[in-house]
Amino acid sequence: MKKTPNTWFVLWFTGLSGAGKTTSADAVFQKLKDMWYEHIDRLDGDIVRESLTKDLGFTKADRDLNIARVSFVAEILSRNGVGVLSTFVSPYTQARQNLRDKCTNYIEVFVNAPLAECEKRDVKGLYQKARDGIIPNFTGISDPYEAPENPEIELRTDLETVEESAQKVIDYLFENNYLSK
Ligand code: ADX
Repeated sequence: MKKTPNTWFVLWFTGLSGAGKTTSADAVFQKLKDMWYEHIDRLDGDIVRESLTKDLGFTKADRDLNIARVSFVAEILSRNGVGVLSTFVSPYTQARQNLRDKCTNYIEVFVNAPLAECEKRDVKGLYQKARDGIIPNFTGISDPYEAPENPEIELRTDLETVEESAQKVIDYLFENNYLSK
């Protein structure tokens, strides 16, 4: 039987490149689908940057604009009853605070893996390029990442399995009455 969340929400996954934002959010998304939830959607940095924010780079001003544009979309979706799972590095505290102020039911998910672990994974080969100076302003290497101080949820993807991390998010949604059994 098809189900919808009790109320809309914006699950905002933030973390270093390679920390596991996309993997974790995709796993949460799949779990929701498996439980027959509909009206759930995904916004992902790598994908959004191919369209809506294609013109932007990685200076602070561009990253702020990236997040501001995405927050506009997330807010419209959530206002219309869609549960949104957003995955962006979103390194700046102030930009995330703006999201919190703007989006009703903003739930911050800090996808936390140590920089050394992300660099070891180097899924896209970007850390090596950043170390070699080929990519400038790379988060964690030559650009800041301001870690969340009070996230609603923290995932330790270096210590948890994808399944455990995803379940943590699902548990939060049930415990806080976004979903009901
Ligand atoms: S954000 O800082 O504006 O939130 P966003 O999540 O959209 O970043 O994009 C990050 C993705 O762009 C990374 O996962 C990586 O694939 C790619 N990327 C390319 N250059 C950089 C860079 N300088 N810093 C961080 N990520 C980069």
